Amino acid sequence: MTPLVAPTPIARLRRLRRTAQLRALAQENTIGVDDLIWPVFVMEGSDATQSIPSMPGVERLTIDRVVQAATQAASLGIPAICIFPYIDPSLKTELCEEAWSTDNLSNRCISAIRDAGIEIAIMTDVALDPYNANGHDGVVRDGAILNDETVEALVKMALAQAEAGADILGPSDMMDGRIGAIRNALEVEGHKDTAIMSYAAKYASGFYGPFRDAVGASGALVGDKKTYQMNPANSDEALRLVARDLQEGADMVMVKPGLPYLDICRRVKDQFGAPTYAYQVSGEYAMIMGAGANGWIDDTQVMLESLIAFKRAGCDGILTYFAPRVAELLNG
Ligand code: PBG
Repeated sequence: MTPLVAPTPIARLRRLRRTAQLRALAQENTIGVDDLIWPVFVMEGSDATQSIPSMPGVERLTIDRVVQAATQAASLGIPAICIFPYIDPSLKTELCEEAWSTDNLSNRCISAIRDAGIEIAIMTDVALDPYNANGHDGVVRDGAILNDETVEALVKMALAQAEAGADILGPSDMMDGRIGAIRNALEVEGHKDTAIMSYAAKYASGFYGPFRDAVGASGALVGDKKTYQMNPANSDEALRLVARDLQEGADMVMVKPGLPYLDICRRVKDQFGAPTYAYQVSGEYAMIMGAGANGWIDDTQVMLESLIAFKRAGCDGILTYFAPRVAELLNG
């Protein structure tokens, strides 16, 4: 569509920017509480929290505290919470068996939220890195990430999460074929209504640094994730990945990181029209909070501006560590 604009002075585009009311009428996009998915970090123990220095304002929570947080999130109107576990280093192995243990930390946390009857959707992370002795999202042998062996492990992990009561599974590993394999297993095992949000276009990014601190994977990671996560220079490849994952049975697709990849969000939404989400990742959060703490930017204004940018780029929702803060602000 080519916009029709009369020549100045017939068209004075500033007319509709003159007052707050006119600006409100002319506003094209909005951010609402129902656009938010809140990622939280869970740890062992009870009634305790631990701050994460590289993510000011974000804490690891024990399961009982996650239940409290989920209750608070639900009362704010946040539709979903996403669970990321901080796994004790002694449980990390080469084959990552803890990942599909039915009573691992993540699954106990899912059940606790479910059993508390909180009206909030529970999303998970399906990837081996928190459980892997070498910090990778896949099983490693002789320095290589094994695709098909990893997919088998992910299927077991996904089933255990569905069994525990998860509503949305989030495969974040970037192995080929995992969406189809998980979808098929869910059908066979009677979890027909469990949704999958594929981390379809996930880039090998420096913006994940603070998250790896938060889940205790920074120290463990050997090398980088470039053989499975995407090259930041690529865009067409993202469309092929999204097409593939939708065909394999993903209900929702994600682009990650967020702000530096808004062009990908827009292309994905335009091309497929599927439910499309962005993950405003830990490094994006840390940059906004860090600059805000130094008085270099107004972090509240930048938080809201960054979130509306996702809506403008076509996203249906955003995973963001700002979720409770922005929900409180929006609820007045
Ligand atoms: C790993 C995973 C990562 C994030 C979510 N799931 C990190 C990685 O791929 O190394 C990053 C989230 C963030 O940075 O906020 N499966």
